[in-house]
Amino acid sequence: MFDALRPRISSIIESNNDPKTIMQKICDLLKSEVPHYDWVGFYFKNGDKRELNLGPYAGEPTDHTTIPFGKGICGQVAESNQNFVVPDVKAQDNYIACSITVKAEIVVPLFVNGENIGQIDIDSNTPNPFTEEDESFLEFVNEEVAKIL
Ligand code: SME
Repeated sequence: MFDALRPRISSIIESNNDPKTIMQKICDLLKSEVPHYDWVGFYFKNGDKRELNLGPYAGEPTDHTTIPFGKGICGQVAESNQNFVVPDVKAQDNYIACSITVKAEIVVPLFVNGENIGQIDIDSNTPNPFTEEDESFLEFVNEEVAKIL
């Protein structure tokens, strides 16, 4: 599945100019093509502030359009610069619930010139669905997006 999606990600990047349009198309593609991706979105650091703002996303609207560094899975990744895979969100103390249907989450940081400027965030309604395949695929997605930011 991910091997078939990689060229489609590259093709979106090659055939569009506007970063927001590109990220929106990627969110829509991932949500519709990956069965265990139920919410897909990008968050970005807000200038010099220690907070993240929601960017393009696909899925239900969320109240959490601004997340302080350190808060929730997203806020922790803003500080750790590392992938965060959560097989069971109920087992996390520092977690911001967006929907009661969500069982698991993965957040992968997005680097531009070595700086962690944002992240891709996936929520899943399936328990424990994420593997290293998801991590390497989402790292690829972020590397592609970084080229146009
Ligand atoms: N669950 C995230 C918040 C963002 S929503 O999933 C869209 C977190 O704990 O940071």
